[in-house]
Amino acid sequence: MNADAKKTALRMIPYGIYVLTADDGKGGVAAATVNWVTQSAFAPPLVVVGVKTDSGAYKIVKETKSFALNMLGKDQKGLAFTFFKPATVADGKISGQAYKKGATGVPILSDAPAAVECKVTSIVEQGDHHVVVAEVVEAHVMKPPAGRPDAAILEMKDLGDNVFYGG
Ligand SMILES: Cc1cc2nc3c(=O)[nH]c(=O)nc-3n(C[C@H](O)[C@H](O)[C@H](O)COP(=O)(O)O)c2cc1C
Repeated sequence: MNADAKKTALRMIPYGIYVLTADDGKGGVAAATVNWVTQSAFAPPLVVVGVKTDSGAYKIVKETKSFALNMLGKDQKGLAFTFFKPATVADGKISGQAYKKGATGVPILSDAPAAVECKVTSIVEQGDHHVVVAEVVEAHVMKPPAGRPDAAILEMKDLGDNVFYGG
């Protein structure tokens, strides 16, 4: 296989940008910007997320089987960059961002336009990112989108000409 062709072809897949949050219940919180996300079933409503196995987020998600996906709005590029680094908790905020606990105890970022709370149903353990399959059990819309919901989401292409995850 030609490595450049593989990279270019795979980078033609478009992605939204989300912040995955999780709480270990012992004072540890994870918040990571992720893009390998899609819905995969209507009934029950399932989503799948590719999560890096050596990340803080993966450890907590595997342990607690709970996480939230916080949707980022078109104008929230700064938040995406904030959560490329491991999260820190201080003054009741995650990396400086206000949050509240959702129905399942997972952190919901107050500034996200919408979020879903998810319960892990299985993890496909292959490769350097594992595919986490999870059921959406609660949903929040803090800022209803004016038009199509998928037009309101921050996308990989909005992050700059040289930002990619995939390829
Ligand atoms: C553009 C971009 C997209 C990313 N997408 C993902 C992803 O889909 N899944 C993932 O596990 N990590 C992804 N990451 C890496 C995480 O953002 C990063 O590992 C995480 O924030 C580190 O925190 P943690 O170790 O506490 O989880 C991405 C990074 C960048 C720069």
